[in-house]
Amino acid sequence: MNTNNAGGGPAAGKPVAIVTGGAKGIGAACCRELAKKGFRVGIHYRSSKAPAEQILAETGGDGFLIAADLADTDQVETMVKEIKERAGRVDVLVNNAAVSINNPMSAMQIDAFDAQRAPLRGTWYLTKRILRLFMLRSGTGRIINISSVVGHTGNAAQIPYTMEKAAIEAMTKSLAKELHGREILVNAVAPGFIDTDMTDELPEEIRESFASQIPLGRIGQPEEVAEVVGFLATGGSYITGSVIHVNGGMYGG
Ligand SMILES: NC(=O)c1ccc[n+]([C@@H]2O[C@H](COP(=O)([O-])OP(=O)(O)OC[C@H]3O[C@@H](n4cnc5c(N)ncnc54)[C@H](OP(=O)(O)O)[C@@H]3O)[C@@H](O)[C@H]2O)c1
Repeated sequence: MNTNNAGGGPAAGKPVAIVTGGAKGIGAACCRELAKKGFRVGIHYRSSKAPAEQILAETGGDGFLIAADLADTDQVETMVKEIKERAGRVDVLVNNAAVSINNPMSAMQIDAFDAQRAPLRGTWYLTKRILRLFMLRSGTGRIINISSVVGHTGNAAQIPYTMEKAAIEAMTKSLAKELHGREILVNAVAPGFIDTDMTDELPEEIRESFASQIPLGRIGQPEEVAEVVGFLATGGSYITGSVIHVNGGMYGG
């Protein structure tokens, strides 16, 4: 991608990638992959400060940490200001943070519904601010939204989560259209069943039962998702408004 930024000043230098929920799991793997690809990585976290510091150290230390609860737009606004001061540019935004709370609809409480909706609202706001402050000004950028296979297939006991994932794909497609004629590409990556804290919470027999139904016969690794994010961050110049499935054959799209 074009890493030049007219005007120089604080925007000059290494391209910058921001990864939300970058301290753990798929987000942490994305931070490592993007650092390997030459990005200065802004590692966002909410509560996982120590793991975020660890990722910063692992990725060579020229990145930076940003803390914010995406449920709170004031915190997102502060986060954007910090990014401006520390980096002065954003070339890639990976919207990875999300929450999954499993319960059947009849038992799910409204607070649990809201807790799962809040990161999506914050993601919409963060994306809007990053567009306005950086990408629309530079005329280039990559926005990569982490969705899920269950946004397509549905999943019992995950109705709010599947709604959020269908919604982030709708945002992906609509924003790609809205950015008509600009070199700002917007895509989603939809992982299947990946080995992270989110899936560690499931009982072992459920994990085994899921794995046995996957054509590749195993749960995926965060690095296998991050590899595709790395591709969309640097290549794929004619791909926008798309969803790339990374699920070991569970679902073909
Ligand atoms: N694991 C899977 O099988 C799988 C499958 C399909 C899709 N995905 C998607 O992949 C992405 C990463 O999931 P993961 O499995 O790596 O999960 P994870 O380890 O639980 O990470 C989720 C991250 O989201 C952050 N987060 C949650 N709520 C937030 C909020 N309100 N504000 C700011 N940050 C918030 C958390 O930050 P803190 O820890 O700092 O609080 C956490 O680091 C998610 O979008 C998930 O839906 C995962």
